[in-house]
Amino acid sequence: MKRARSRVARPKSIGFDGYHRRDVPPPDRELTQVGPGTPCGEYLRRFWQPVAFARDLAVAPLRVRILGEDLVVFRDRGGRVGVLHLHCAHRGTSLEFGIPLERGLRCCYHGWVYDVDGRCLETPGEPAGSRFRERVWQGAYPTHELAGLVFAYLGPPDRRPSFPVYDSYDVRGYRLMPAAQFTLPCNWLQVKDNSMDPVHTAFLHALSSGYQFTEAFGAVPEIDWKLTDAGMVYLATRRVGDLVWVRVADFMPPNVHQFTREIEDATEVKPASRPVIIRWAVPNDDTHTTNFELAQVDPAWGLEPEQVAKPGFGQSDDRPYAERQSHPADFDAQSSQRTIAVHALEHLGSADRGVIMLRRIVREGIRAVARGTDPFGTRRPEGKVIRTFTQDVVFRVPPAPSPEADRRLLRATGRSVLNGGS
Ligand code: FES
Ligand SMILES: [Fe+2]
Repeated sequence: MKRARSRVARPKSIGFDGYHRRDVPPPDRELTQVGPGTPCGEYLRRFWQPVAFARDLAVAPLRVRILGEDLVVFRDRGGRVGVLHLHCAHRGTSLEFGIPLERGLRCCYHGWVYDVDGRCLETPGEPAGSRFRERVWQGAYPTHELAGLVFAYLGPPDRRPSFPVYDSYDVRGYRLMPAAQFTLPCNWLQVKDNSMDPVHTAFLHALSSGYQFTEAFGAVPEIDWKLTDAGMVYLATRRVGDLVWVRVADFMPPNVHQFTREIEDATEVKPASRPVIIRWAVPNDDTHTTNFELAQVDPAWGLEPEQVAKPGFGQSDDRPYAERQSHPADFDAQSSQRTIAVHALEHLGSADRGVIMLRRIVREGIRAVARGTDPFGTRRPEGKVIRTFTQDVVFRVPPAPSPEADRRLLRATGRSVLNGGS
């Protein structure tokens, strides 16, 4: 597969040379196209993907678009969840208008009924005793529910992986709850790039927009990244006087990441907190991406489910344009990198090493699938708990004598967290 790395030939700049910089090469198709049969689309299909929250299935079937496929998600009256191709196998009516039965979903148009595995259970217009239905199947995908989030597996049946169990699903004293869902009008990869880009938390969320989290975020961190058994982490380590605050976030390929609440003010020594938000960036198609979140919630916070389900500040398109301009946030930064970010025009610096690593993991996974092998993360034993590292932790570490020595000290303190602490 050819990499879209072609650079635009430009004369040496002497300024005012917009004329020579207008060409926009195509995006990296290998990493950004998600439809059936595309390399990245086939890669993403090898993993369980969220498709809907169970809370949205209570009344009627739900029409969704996942990886360029139009689907319907429903719960039948027997309590089972189904994910079917949207258009009825009879003559194509959308099953979003279907009627959930004790077993399966009835199409509104001529009453054909489909079970959750796609078999046709009834064809009421056919003569009594007809066996016609035995030859009819509606496209269907297997499902799995976790904490009110419905996942589906859209890949080849013989390559179905076990459902991954991250240690962050079970945190003592916390309850895993369905949280926010919000859609960005852009490609999935730039949404996920953001997860391994800790510098943006200092700029976008503090210095350029005013403090969206705590003032401690305004200190540009010493940044580091490391591969883990789950995927990779970033380590953002900040000095606050005699204290050192290490913030760790995980990226779990292909499209999951997790992070703590942005409330750390680093004013005292603190033991590690555990992940609070686990987020999947699911491509609807090449130019739309829906984030699904689960949240670890402390019952002492007294949050109602509707509060937990609200997107965080600036994550969705729910603010007036003028406010988004004066105080831009993640939605604005990510979705404005063009509808599909063009990597050939980027100038990646040392602070982008995490983004480079993330894309490499994704590209290797895509190529593994293209070679006919299993990508990283799809051959784990059933039920094996996968260790992750997301946390905020604050140590007392007095500054080293020189700025350079202190940077090294911060880096070492950050890395120590992956081995259990300073
Ligand atoms: S189109 Fe669905 S039953 Fe006829
Ligand atoms: Fe952000």
